[in-house]
Amino acid sequence: MKVHDNLAAWWEARDALARRGDSLGFVPTMGALHAGHASLISASVAGNAATVVSIYVNPTQFNNPDDLSNYPDTLDADLALAERLGADHVIRPTYDEVYADDYRYQISEKELSGILCGAHRPGHFDGVLTVVMKLLNIVRADRAYFGEKDYQQFLLIRDMARAFFLQTEILACTTVREEDGLALSSRNLNLSAAGRETAPTLNRLLRSGLDDEAVAGELAAAGFDVDYVVSREGRRFGAASLMNGELAVRLIDNVELGE
Ligand code: PAF
Repeated sequence: MKVHDNLAAWWEARDALARRGDSLGFVPTMGALHAGHASLISASVAGNAATVVSIYVNPTQFNNPDDLSNYPDTLDADLALAERLGADHVIRPTYDEVYADDYRYQISEKELSGILCGAHRPGHFDGVLTVVMKLLNIVRADRAYFGEKDYQQFLLIRDMARAFFLQTEILACTTVREEDGLALSSRNLNLSAAGRETAPTLNRLLRSGLDDEAVAGELAAAGFDVDYVVSREGRRFGAASLMNGELAVRLIDNVELGE
């Protein structure tokens, strides 16, 4: 597996892949890889001749500076996992490369990005869509893989790819969960011991027969600071935070209704 710490090195490798005509799968990440990322990398390795993983903590999608500064960094373990799973390339571009325009140019969407997480994280999806557009253009993969845990993000990226005629197929992979139902997330590393015990309540209540308002009430009673519980288009979405000292650890999840 080759690790490219700058884009110049990656462009050379990309040209070589193009010359060989190899199909290319892409898994964009912000590092702190877990079994959810592993399932995306495995899907890419199974479906393509070569797989590239990006590790880039994108500052423009963090509306909360504490969340950015506390974002877990597990680079050595990430590289070992990517290699073990069969990834061929890891790219780790710098801010100056990714945002040579200093974020003057942005992608924004006018409907779906304003609800659910978008209503609680101003500018978040502008940052996500902009960086994903840049990464998709940098990698020029045949297929890119995203987790269903971030279902709103997946829909926005899939529709952006359609709207801008991107040549990369956008694919979603099922959420990977702990045995107690907690959706895997890099932020789970920031939960306190008590928070980790409470966290699966989010998934349990989203799957319950209670209505959205009652679920939000039960979450608050369990100690969550609830952003939203909303059912739409056959899914129930929830976002809520648990405190670890001064740090708010924000968890999101969604389930298919009738599951
Ligand atoms: O889902 C994530 O980890 C990030 O939002 C992504 C897609 C890598 C963009 O920074």
